Amino acid sequence: MERHATVTLVALPPVPDADDLALLSPSEREQAARFARLVDGAAFITARATLRRLLASATGLGAAELPLERDTRGRPYLAADGHDTMDFNLSHSGALAAIGIAFGGRIGVDVEIHGTVRAIRDLVPQVMGPREAEVLSRLTGDAFAREFYECWTRKEAVIKALGIGLEFPLQSIDVPSVEHERAVRVRTGPAHEWTVSTREPMPGYSLSIALDDDEHRVTVRPIDVVSAAVPRPSDDP
Ligand SMILES: CC(C)(COP(=O)(O)OP(=O)(O)OC[C@H]1O[C@@H](n2cnc3c(N)ncnc32)[C@H](O)[C@@H]1OP(=O)(O)O)[C@@H](O)C(=O)NCCC(=O)NCCS
Repeated sequence: MERHATVTLVALPPVPDADDLALLSPSEREQAARFARLVDGAAFITARATLRRLLASATGLGAAELPLERDTRGRPYLAADGHDTMDFNLSHSGALAAIGIAFGGRIGVDVEIHGTVRAIRDLVPQVMGPREAEVLSRLTGDAFAREFYECWTRKEAVIKALGIGLEFPLQSIDVPSVEHERAVRVRTGPAHEWTVSTREPMPGYSLSIALDDDEHRVTVRPIDVVSAAVPRPSDDP
């Protein structure tokens, strides 16, 4: 079987769409209603509805009927027989979501809107490995933010592919300054090695994709810019 993965970028609207909401299960609607901010509920609804449409197209099952469950660590999975070779993962940040579907392997995706340098500089000792911290210590402004979020999304993409939470030692993934879209190998244990690629899906955002082998053909489908205005991240003072 050919191994391939598709990552679809989705512009998130500030308010939910009725057609999207109609696709969600009762428990997803309950989750959506629990968000304090309307914009966060809208992000959840749009990302889940788009995930359902993409999985319906991949499996032939009905989008609204897809049995989407969460495992004990919160990772969503499809509780339907006959689709064991397919994996998926989603991420949202700011006004952008990324939905990855892999055939023949495990996938993790993470997208992050860049925060201000002031907001993230203090996090470096807690989350970055020694090589990453050394590279970051030489950078300022936008270059610092870009490097920080590229390193950060690589870590999260791997953690999300593994399916574990942030209790994973983030500093043990220490991969600074990777050329854009070039895949790197990241080891998380003797039997766990991941192929991770990082890119800028739009200005001010970083996206990483982790796959459990280096044989996947990866396609990133561009954002549908018609569906929403995507804000730029705030400028660093
Ligand atoms: C998974 C996690 C790293 C994502 O963090 P984030 O950057 O804030 O958010 P992202 O937008 O990138 O990802 C969120 C999405 O990842 C998926 N997800 C949730 N838990 C996940 C996990 N353990 N592994 C992989 N993906 C997960 C979901 O699709 C979620 O979106 P949804 O709830 O709208 O469907 C973080 O939520 C986490 O640490 N979760 C684990 C919590 C945990 O261990 N719980 C134990 C329960 S007892």
